[in-house]
Amino acid sequence: MRETTAKPIPLHRVFTVGGEGEYLTTALRSLRLSGDGPFTKRCHTFLENRFGCAKVLLTPSCTAALEMAALLFDIQPGDEVIMPSYTFVSTANAFLLRGAKPVFADILPDTLCLDPQSVARAVTPRTKAIVPVHYAGNACDMDAIMAIAGEHGLLVVEDAAQGFDAKFRGRALGTIGHLGTFSFHETKNVTCGEGGALLINDSRFTARAEIIREKGTDRSQFLRGETAKYTWQDAGSSFLPSELQAAFLLAQFDGLETIRTRRRRVYDFYESRLRPLERAGLLRLPCRQSDAESNHHLYFMILGSERERSEMMAHLETRRIQSSFHFVPLHGSPLGRRLGGAAYTLPVTDSVASRLLRLPAFAGLEPEELDRVCEGVEEFFAGKNSHVLKSNKAMADHHPVYGAE
Ligand SMILES: Cc1ncc(COP(=O)(O)O)c(C=O)c1O
Repeated sequence: MRETTAKPIPLHRVFTVGGEGEYLTTALRSLRLSGDGPFTKRCHTFLENRFGCAKVLLTPSCTAALEMAALLFDIQPGDEVIMPSYTFVSTANAFLLRGAKPVFADILPDTLCLDPQSVARAVTPRTKAIVPVHYAGNACDMDAIMAIAGEHGLLVVEDAAQGFDAKFRGRALGTIGHLGTFSFHETKNVTCGEGGALLINDSRFTARAEIIREKGTDRSQFLRGETAKYTWQDAGSSFLPSELQAAFLLAQFDGLETIRTRRRRVYDFYESRLRPLERAGLLRLPCRQSDAESNHHLYFMILGSERERSEMMAHLETRRIQSSFHFVPLHGSPLGRRLGGAAYTLPVTDSVASRLLRLPAFAGLEPEELDRVCEGVEEFFAGKNSHVLKSNKAMADHHPVYGAE
């Protein structure tokens, strides 16, 4: 494999749209830096209008928004909460912190999102909630999940950390469950470094959400003139981001169309160059959901084996291209195992997790960089002998993930 002196291509690079500095300066000059100031209010209005959600609250992270959801759902020790194992730790931690048991369900081989049949099998009399995770901007089948929740009287919070501005059957991800959460972490489509939002789609939770977010006080109501003083009302914490984060975020919202267009171009580029490799049975690419609209958050390949993934990573590294695996399934992690692992077999999770490789995908990725990434992937397969190609093709024909389409 040849070494190269080309500029490194990172997996992710923050994309600024131009207005961030101006808004930050305005916030600084105002000397109004704590939470729920004018920039936070403008972010709330933007999100409520764009997604048609009655109430949105900015939070310091998606992790914090999930922790608020666990408090709002009144999760108690011994409750069970169904979620995918193929997710980020925050999905489980938020509920574990309240004493609940995370119950891991499997994902679907095409979307890599929660499998409704696996969810239905995992429901017990102790189940309190379901947390669908919209992986990579793909959408979970929210109709099926809400139907299971309705049948068993369960609550649903969508972990849309990766699903900002994506849709399922015309509805924005995060607005379909009782609650929804977004992440504005540096790695997400729209960012303020660290940030998140809680979407409240069921008005039963609105008043208490404001109290929990303000350290358990009714300060929000007080600031609106609805009460003469504010006092301790409930258990709560500090779930407000500062105005500096909100100022940066609002500028990113202003530039959302640019971000969307650029990400779609990245995705389309990969599609046109890498689909032929998929057709040849060499790898699997993200599925195109006919009933959902992606936000083009991640671009990944599913390779023939864990070994092949390591080889591909090493090959791309020689071309100074960063690639990365993704989640280590929670049920097999050290804590997951101490909690009892998975009560149900998770064949798709286990199979995908060891073979998925993420490619650089961000709004600022330039065509020459994309070209280099695709060339690197093509070169990897061109360098393989026909024996390996044949065995991959056989895997494509027989493997549950490869054979899913
Ligand atoms: C599925 C999922 N949930 C939750 C989070 C946590 O988001 P944050 O970093 O904003 O707390 C992430 C972060 O990547 C995620 O991918």
